[in-house]
Amino acid sequence: MQNAQGGALAPPLAVEPFYLPAGDEVELFEQCHHNKLAVMLKGPTGCGKTRFVEHMAWKLGRPLVTISCHDDLTASDLIGRYLIRHDRTIWQDGPLTAAVRAGALCYLDEVVEARQDTVVVLHSLTDYRRTLSIDKTGEMLEAAPGFQLVVSYNPGYQRMLKDLKPSTRQRFVTLDFEFPPPDREAEIVVRESGIEPSQARALVELAHKLRGLQDRGLAEVPSTRLLVATAQLIGRGIPVRRACRVALIAPLSDDAALVGAMTDLVELTFP
Ligand SMILES: Nc1ncnc2c1ncn2[C@@H]1O[C@H](COP(=O)(O)OP(=O)(O)OP(=O)(O)O)[C@@H](O)[C@H]1O
Ligand SMILES: [Mg+2]
Repeated sequence: MQNAQGGALAPPLAVEPFYLPAGDEVELFEQCHHNKLAVMLKGPTGCGKTRFVEHMAWKLGRPLVTISCHDDLTASDLIGRYLIRHDRTIWQDGPLTAAVRAGALCYLDEVVEARQDTVVVLHSLTDYRRTLSIDKTGEMLEAAPGFQLVVSYNPGYQRMLKDLKPSTRQRFVTLDFEFPPPDREAEIVVRESGIEPSQARALVELAHKLRGLQDRGLAEVPSTRLLVATAQLIGRGIPVRRACRVALIAPLSDDAALVGAMTDLVELTFP
């Protein structure tokens, strides 16, 4: 089935997406799924939210529909619209409707970016009704078994959770995501890049020092995603300091003083 963003509804994944849990989030999510509870994932960029949802979709054997929210996203973008094709008018489901029909996990990334009049269409799906009203066709759609709504939001960005109405917020079980503890983060880096464990541990140690620079004005701290990217370059033979420069430091800041401080830390870690 085509959705309004032009993408296809992906079938359940056959291969397990690697996800290393930080705590009880897998079990909590499973219980939410079985109890038809919607889930909100809160945490900084690159800390594993998307990977977690992919893993859970695989584990629960559900298709996954991902929607990136932005402030131009309308209710029609989610639900669907009539399209003119040749001399006919045809209805095309939006990604939310496709997910509701298929009993998919529907993941709305950065939900706070969406306008409130868009977000409210989710309400009837998150309570006992589990219905989606499609005004344009007059259809009242009941969610297929297995349908679950998952949203994410990054608390560091300008728009804050307070921008979501309490009536929206209180519809979601909320799981807090942080960067994994050092030993686990190193394990993730090894699994995702194939570099030596000792080198992964050194990269994680460096990341901790860089994260400490937040007090000195570093707006965005290095995520697990950046560590993985750096490690992948190292794994392909790029010299360590060069890889750190392009994949770890340059994406974080343009400020000469901060870049200098970060470069010093790289040189201390990898003399
Ligand atoms: N717990 C984890 N298990 C396995 N891989 C992880 C984990 N945490 C982070 N990663 C790695 O970090 C990368 C980035 O994670 P992901 O894309 O899930 O971040 P995110 O939280 O969705 O970020 P954003 O808010 O920017 O969308 C993944 O592609 C994966 O390589
Ligand atoms: Mg993501």
